[in-house]
Amino acid sequence: MDISQTISNTAIENQCESGVSAGGTSFSVAPMMEITDRYCRRFHRMLSSHGVLYSEMITAAAVVHGDRNYLLEFDTAELPVVLQLGGSDAGLMAESAAIGEQFGYSAVNINCGCPSDRVRNGRFGACLMAEPELVAECLIAMQASVSIPVTVKCRIGIDRDDSFEPFERFVRVVADAGCNKFIVHARKAWLDGLSPKENRTVPPLKYEYVDQIKSLYPDKQFILNGGLLSHEQAIANSRTIDGVMLGREVCSNPWMLNDVDHLYYGKAQNTRTRFEVVEACYPHIEKHLSQGTSLGKLMKPMLGLFHAQPGGRLWRRILSETMWLEGAGLHTVQRALDAVRQAAEDVQRATKPDIPGHGDAGNLPESRHSNG
Ligand SMILES: Cc1cc2nc3c(=O)[nH]c(=O)nc-3n(C[C@H](O)[C@H](O)[C@H](O)COP(=O)(O)O)c2cc1C
Repeated sequence: MDISQTISNTAIENQCESGVSAGGTSFSVAPMMEITDRYCRRFHRMLSSHGVLYSEMITAAAVVHGDRNYLLEFDTAELPVVLQLGGSDAGLMAESAAIGEQFGYSAVNINCGCPSDRVRNGRFGACLMAEPELVAECLIAMQASVSIPVTVKCRIGIDRDDSFEPFERFVRVVADAGCNKFIVHARKAWLDGLSPKENRTVPPLKYEYVDQIKSLYPDKQFILNGGLLSHEQAIANSRTIDGVMLGREVCSNPWMLNDVDHLYYGKAQNTRTRFEVVEACYPHIEKHLSQGTSLGKLMKPMLGLFHAQPGGRLWRRILSETMWLEGAGLHTVQRALDAVRQAAEDVQRATKPDIPGHGDAGNLPESRHSNG
């Protein structure tokens, strides 16, 4: 199916020319601890110029008292990028937001959705859904200390209460305090009895709660998150709201970001190949290798790039086995890329046996074997 046709016929009819999705649906990559670090975001930005990227959650206390350069530094090429903060001390949240603004982040986001014990003991994350007044207090302090937007990422509730009312009350109190944008992971978090991982799969998804809250607060922005596995599904489920956020699917299949600028922001379809994207990353890889970053850290976000493509498993295997080794470098990436290219050529040859060298196997560019 031609997904771009399907989608342009359905939801994405109102993009404005500026690249900001106005009246259409915005796309963001979810904040994910130990995943969406600066290297991951830099790679994601190679695939989409307009999707919104998020940092991993960083605690307000770490930003204020810790090694803030290490925690916050990023490449301006990643912009727009949102800093997600964890905390519930209004003073610390305000100070960390101001520091984030000084570093150049596009917005700051308050984490009210993480269910881990560590987070709960620190009185932040999903347990804050039970304390909307405290979130409002933080939000007001943060808004007073920055001029960038302050947004909230939350669940639809916590623990066993299945009703809409506590969610509506949370949004009402925080919206009254001035929050204009909510990212909603559309399932509850069970703070007792489920691990963080289970809390991302077991509680049922209720996208209808996000539609319902939007209908009550039409002037506020609501971004749907949770369990979205494709652009078609994301757009079909976001007709009445303002955007979608995807996490795990982007990790397993980052190439889906290649369609974001076209589908959500009305830009021309990107025509580069996966091979070209990897090669375009070489200067960034070389720069960070020379600064002492391990190849593993740089390449981990790229392991899924050839997902469901000829040679995709080979790419993942070669890199996984070699990228953390001492001495791993650009030549390691080139070797993996050559192996994928070879696998793609083999498939091409096998499917068109009578016409040597003919055809384009999806993303296969002319053969350009590196000598590395
Ligand atoms: C490994 C991992 C780490 C995560 N870390 C964060 C985090 O730091 N902050 C946050 O708000 N959500 C975090 N999440 C939740 C995601 O942002 C997202 O809400 C969730 O995965 C549901 O979206 P998805 O179904 O598209 O993955 C994390 C999820 C995963 C899988």
